[in-house]
Amino acid sequence: MIPTFGDLSEETPAPGLRVLQPRRGYRWGVEVYALAGFALGAGGPMAFPVARAIELGSGSGVVSLLLASCGVAVRGWERDPAWVALAQESARRSTVRGSVRFTVRDVRAPTRARPADVVVANPPWFSPTAGPISPDDRKAAARTMLHGTVQDFVEAGLRLAPRVCVVTRPERVAELKLRSAYVARLASLPGGAVLLAEVRQGEGETVGETFDVPVAYAAFRGLPIERPS
Ligand SMILES: C[S@@+](CC[C@H](N)C(=O)[O-])C[C@H]1O[C@@H](n2cnc3c(N)ncnc32)[C@H](O)[C@@H]1O
Repeated sequence: MIPTFGDLSEETPAPGLRVLQPRRGYRWGVEVYALAGFALGAGGPMAFPVARAIELGSGSGVVSLLLASCGVAVRGWERDPAWVALAQESARRSTVRGSVRFTVRDVRAPTRARPADVVVANPPWFSPTAGPISPDDRKAAARTMLHGTVQDFVEAGLRLAPRVCVVTRPERVAELKLRSAYVARLASLPGGAVLLAEVRQGEGETVGETFDVPVAYAAFRGLPIERPS
């Protein structure tokens, strides 16, 4: 059906969702619930009203689908047409309160689009010179900045929405402080190696948050993640 991925598994990350991902290769983890929850304010001190969202680098589409399951109208953009085809198939199999549409787009290409309330992204964050690159091309493109940097994602996001929420790592936070933008919110996932950051246009202080992962799971009525054996 989607031949370039090999064997697929179909997951139910939340009620109504049927999301396909490769059994071997890039698979999502707890950060997808955390990112969607962080954008909505679930698991944090304050809820944000979100009617329209854009996801940059949507991959399997799971983050977009989680947001759409909460009633948000979501557009998922991804440079790899095979991921887009897979996410479109997952959208066909899923029932959501909002809506979701996946298209092939590279975040580095200038684009015009209807603005959104928030942009979400879980961009690749490893430098190509910082260690071994996965021999799986698709996994490599998901993890290593081969087709754009974290800054490319954030800059594209700030052209589309006043709030850009990203999954990142402590060593990348400095790169989020772009000209005319600031990190407004910062939260750490358990273990501290993965952070959630919200970048906004203008100037302001960074507020550190305690992010409650179980509350974010509960917001989506999320089910435990099963790892392939
Ligand atoms: C870490 S994965 C995240 C996938 C999905 N959002 C998730 O959280 O499971 C990063 C995604 O960004 C995509 N990507 C990398 N460079 C891109 C670019 N320049 N434009 C659009 N998507 C890109 C990759 O193909 C990959 O699907």
